[in-house]
Amino acid sequence: MTEAILLVGGKGTRLRPLTVNTPKPMVPAAGVPFLTHQLARARAAGVEHIVLATSYLAEVFEPYFGDGSSLGLRLEYVTENEPLGTGGAIRNVADRLESGPGDPVLIFNGDILTGLDIAGLVATHRSAGADVSLHLTRVEDPRAFGLVPTDADGRVTAFLEKPESPENIVTDQINAGAYVFNRSVIDSIPSDRPVSVERETFPGLLADGAHLQGMVDSTYWLDLGTPQAFVRGSADLVQGRAPSPVVTGRCGDQLVLDGAYVADDAKLTGGTAVSAGAVIGSGAIVDGSTVLQGAVIESGAVISHSLIGAGAVIGARTVLDGAVIGDGARIGADNELRHGARVWCDAVIPDGAVRFSSDQ
Ligand code: GDD
Ligand code: MG
Repeated sequence: MTEAILLVGGKGTRLRPLTVNTPKPMVPAAGVPFLTHQLARARAAGVEHIVLATSYLAEVFEPYFGDGSSLGLRLEYVTENEPLGTGGAIRNVADRLESGPGDPVLIFNGDILTGLDIAGLVATHRSAGADVSLHLTRVEDPRAFGLVPTDADGRVTAFLEKPESPENIVTDQINAGAYVFNRSVIDSIPSDRPVSVERETFPGLLADGAHLQGMVDSTYWLDLGTPQAFVRGSADLVQGRAPSPVVTGRCGDQLVLDGAYVADDAKLTGGTAVSAGAVIGSGAIVDGSTVLQGAVIESGAVISHSLIGAGAVIGARTVLDGAVIGDGARIGADNELRHGARVWCDAVIPDGAVRFSSDQ
């Protein structure tokens, strides 16, 4: 049996709701709360027991996922009184673990969508005889991540979290947010204060000569910490580019959930997902976007790569590209919002009030 800790929450986390009221792990991605994909992938890899380490809006998880039995899991929830950081959150759930001191425990950042071979990571960990093993991926710009150079055998030589000086940009291999820890390493994390696994635990283990093993796996990987990434991840799930056991068999260009209404001549493309109760009006075009529950897209609106919050209304002929519209916001007709524009929950923009095109 392998068990896992899932980190969801934290003060500094970019999972905070930015313009939608629901915390990001619970926002539907391809029709189900995002966390479902991670839980289902872990279960498919043989994990049976998962402890959710939460610190933020924790009360929304348990009513939805309950004891986990609908996913074939045993789920437990531990809420921090104050955010303890990634390492502190891991240490804080140690007494819920069932593994013995030498047993491997999986740990996942809660905002990652990936096709990682989870069982392969555990196998690598065992065969390397490591204390901790990390999934690594390669990205074009590693600066927003933890940089993890390795030697010829894949052994980690340094851990540099979000390095600021150019001389520390030593590799394009980054920490992909999935680890195997020996149980005894978890127990060695201080229990009485916040701890960052990235800034304190990993560098400390390396300084003490511990064996940290990296496994570079170039499968699908995305940090969904920003709304734009979230929208892309949802579209990739719908289109089958991102693997998830709960999307199997219904991959396509669009996902329209029961109880949504889409006009016959509306066009949904690029992995657009439309939640229950949403309405897509006549002639509207919605590409690569997520339309949440009860939102209304009026006729002729043209929407791409955008997140439309629950109950929001997008007026006729309005153009949205890369926009994030908060729950309950009302965008009047004939507006144009582009390039990461964010409209706060319940805000109102009148008809014909905003455009982004030049006067030429
Ligand atoms: N319970 C709990 N308590 N969880 C926390 C806390 C906390 O105090 N702080 C952060 N987390 C959770 C977040 O919810 C998220 O799932 C995960 O830990 C990572 O935190 P982020 O805030 O998303 O960090 P990041 O994306 O900037 O960087 C992390 O992920 C990168 C990969 O996406 C680091 O692990 C980097 O090294 C890594 O490259
Ligand atoms: Mg993140």
